[in-house]
Amino acid sequence: MLLDKESGASNRPDDTTQPLPKIVRTVADLRKDVAAWRAAGETIVLVPTMGALHEGHLSLMREGQGLCNRVVATIFVNPMQFNRAEDLESYPRDNNRDIEQLAKLNVDLLYMPEVEEIYPSGFATTVSLPSLSDCLCGAHRPGHFDGVSTVVSKLLLQCLPDVAIFGEKDFQQLQIIRRMVRDLNIPVAIKGGATVRETDGLALSSRNRLLSSEERTRAALLYEVLISAVAAIKAGRDTSEALRDGRMRLAESGFTSVDYFEIRDERDLTLHTGEQTSEGLRIFAAVWLGTTRIIDNLPVALSKRTRA
Ligand code: PAF
Repeated sequence: MLLDKESGASNRPDDTTQPLPKIVRTVADLRKDVAAWRAAGETIVLVPTMGALHEGHLSLMREGQGLCNRVVATIFVNPMQFNRAEDLESYPRDNNRDIEQLAKLNVDLLYMPEVEEIYPSGFATTVSLPSLSDCLCGAHRPGHFDGVSTVVSKLLLQCLPDVAIFGEKDFQQLQIIRRMVRDLNIPVAIKGGATVRETDGLALSSRNRLLSSEERTRAALLYEVLISAVAAIKAGRDTSEALRDGRMRLAESGFTSVDYFEIRDERDLTLHTGEQTSEGLRIFAAVWLGTTRIIDNLPVALSKRTRA
């Protein structure tokens, strides 16, 4: 196992000279480092993750480095946001590799709390935004976003960074966090980071490593179908027809099932009916390949002809 800076020792597999990020496991230790940086006039960005880091996460860290003096990454596989025990169990974990990657990027601090640090015995609070959480992924993963908003509110309040960054691949999550921060007056600016894709278009996700090689090849079709729908709508096709075509293509493309393929207003996530404003629309999709669920989304621009 990799050891942290405090112990001064490491059994890292390779012999890189990059120092490991300092690792803290308690709120008290996290706050000590943050307070020292604040006292020195430095700014802080937080990048919350559940680990199994990929280029999408690393791009958020790099973006953070361009915004603030210090980057704090978190790795916490949050049990409260898993509505199925087997999903929590099978969620990929790779702490040693994650720490190596953060070292290469010179991330300043890694906060890796135990479950008891986040949810001590008697923990009784849930942060819930039903109006944004009950659709899309929330409709298929009951309680998922209550777990996300509860843990993210805790991480933000524990660290109190200037900025926190979340990937746009989880666009519903990003909008829920933005609204939560606004509603609760949490003094942190929330930034969205662009989705990073494989060369065939598949959005990077920690869950991609759960796909078999056949499923992995098929997975790229989701992006293709999304791109086609966006292009058809831009060219003037009616949104409901473009969605119907897309759903048909997904059904024919060998996905195990489709949870949703729909267009919503990206600000409040209300369903697009064709009569609303044409600004700020986004197409959202979630499909299954075997036991793995993948999600993606893209902005939609209506053609002049289809604008409401
Ligand atoms: O997107 C994720 O990895 C998680 O939902 C988050 C934001 C770290 C909360 O656990």
